[in-house]
Amino acid sequence: MMNTIASDSVFDVEEIRREAQSSIQQGAVTRDYPLDVKRACQILNEALASEILCVLRYRHHQVIAKGINFPQVAAEFKEHAESEESHMLEIAERISQLGGDPDMNPATIAQRSATEYGATDGDLVSMIREDLVSERIAIEVYRQMIEWFSADPTTRRMLEKILADEEDHATDLADLLETVDQHKPSMFNQ
Ligand SMILES: [Fe+2]
Repeated sequence: MMNTIASDSVFDVEEIRREAQSSIQQGAVTRDYPLDVKRACQILNEALASEILCVLRYRHHQVIAKGINFPQVAAEFKEHAESEESHMLEIAERISQLGGDPDMNPATIAQRSATEYGATDGDLVSMIREDLVSERIAIEVYRQMIEWFSADPTTRRMLEKILADEEDHATDLADLLETVDQHKPSMFNQ
């Protein structure tokens, strides 16, 4: 019965079964993985470094924004930090699933990241601007990565979901910037 199904199938099921049984230590990475898996992990490690840096920048901004009596902005930074942290974990898990090592080495994070940590002096407007610029960089980089991973639907879907989140962040920050800029005189006279 099984053989009949196999011979009628458009796939060579016997061959696929044989291959699946050999190299089982490679887990989810099968013979037909269409991309250069090393390069895939390297690209994902660059995304991982960017996400780690974004978590650090947003947490820094969250904490120092508190002193300026503007809880709405700190709450937004906190929400984004949590979102970036979940991206970080998703990407790290995918790298591991592909057989790579998720590189969280703090010594090289800044140089592997497309985005920057920033150099804010605690001014709300400049913090929001820094975050907005980073989100816009992330959006462009993720779009290119999605293109690169087009033959790997699992990674591509993950990146598409992350891209949608970054687009939301950028929209939120642009709105926030407008609000904060309007309130600027009263806020800084406190
Ligand atoms: Fe992110």
